[in-house]
Amino acid sequence: MKKKVVSVILATAMVASMAMGCGGNNTASTNNGAAAADNGATTDNAADDAATEAADAGAAATEAVSGDLADKKVGVCIYQFSDNFMTLFRTELESYLISQGFSQENITIVDGANDQATQTGQIDSFIAEGVDVLIINPVNSSSAETITDKVVGAGIPLVYINREPDETEQQRWEDNNWDVTYVGCDARQSGTFQGEMIVDLGLDAVDLNGNGKVDYVMVEGDPENIDAQYRTEYSIKALEDAGWEVNCLSDQVGNWAQDQAQTIVANALGQYGTDVEVVFCNNDAMALGALQAIQSAGRTVGTDIYLVGVDALSEALENVINGTMTGTVFNDHFSQSHSAADAAINYLTGAGNEHYIGCDYIKVTQENAQETLDLVK
Ligand code: BGC
Repeated sequence: MKKKVVSVILATAMVASMAMGCGGNNTASTNNGAAAADNGATTDNAADDAATEAADAGAAATEAVSGDLADKKVGVCIYQFSDNFMTLFRTELESYLISQGFSQENITIVDGANDQATQTGQIDSFIAEGVDVLIINPVNSSSAETITDKVVGAGIPLVYINREPDETEQQRWEDNNWDVTYVGCDARQSGTFQGEMIVDLGLDAVDLNGNGKVDYVMVEGDPENIDAQYRTEYSIKALEDAGWEVNCLSDQVGNWAQDQAQTIVANALGQYGTDVEVVFCNNDAMALGALQAIQSAGRTVGTDIYLVGVDALSEALENVINGTMTGTVFNDHFSQSHSAADAAINYLTGAGNEHYIGCDYIKVTQENAQETLDLVK
């Protein structure tokens, strides 16, 4: 009980400090993603052969068990159904699971309603029901230790998605050789891509007020989420790495939500007016809210302000095509949901998985926005 109170206070303090924003160093605490990405990049022939053999073995095992997949029960916990990106993710996950041989009635997907207690109750119910595998998008990544203990204790393999548990937690899976893995992209890459899209415009175009700096507004996702932390940090780092001076006018938490971002950006534009040169949003839902505020303030993206998001939601892609958003970054929900389902299958067949399964983001500007839209539609 006492412990719970302390963590609530800590979480509250964290939200408060993040909301104060600019200048805060919210350096993220895990770097497994980079390690995994580096490992992926150094694949040589021997590794290729080994990977092919492993894939063949996996394919054979999948074939052997595929008849049985229809009888396997999959529990899927999503942190919040109303999240646009997670809606794309879970829809694709369900249809891919079915295409791989699971039967629809054995796939149960539940809404954590952005409340960890609710989600923990759902996990308890899945365990009591005896599901064969769990795919979990945690409400709070910091609850991963508790979740893992429950699920592993019940002998159920576990695939985390989208919200990456920290390094210490991932190390436990490795040390104990547990059937637990994480599937997701390295959010540092998405932040870097956002910054690079701005750098590619050239400082003369971006420094609209001519003060020699890039004056920006940052709208952050849920501060507990590593994606939000990394995107915030790495987007600005890309500008600094290009030798640009930056000036943070406002850095607020929009919790991934369009309406919250609209209010934040409207306030920032009211306060700083034409000094706002770039609006960085940790996701597209918030970029869409930012765009509403930008347009209501009579500003024009591409002419007197720039705006970038992440995810490549269809609506954001249409804006990139029309020039009403500068760019976005494709957060590949196809590859992530397929990898998550494949990882679940690998546990069921006994093929097993690495403890980190990564994927790549893709930079989207006006040049490839239509192509990306064709892909996601
Ligand atoms: C996405 C956000 C989403 C969040 C949920 C992020 O990777 O970019 O749009 O709200 O995941 O955890």
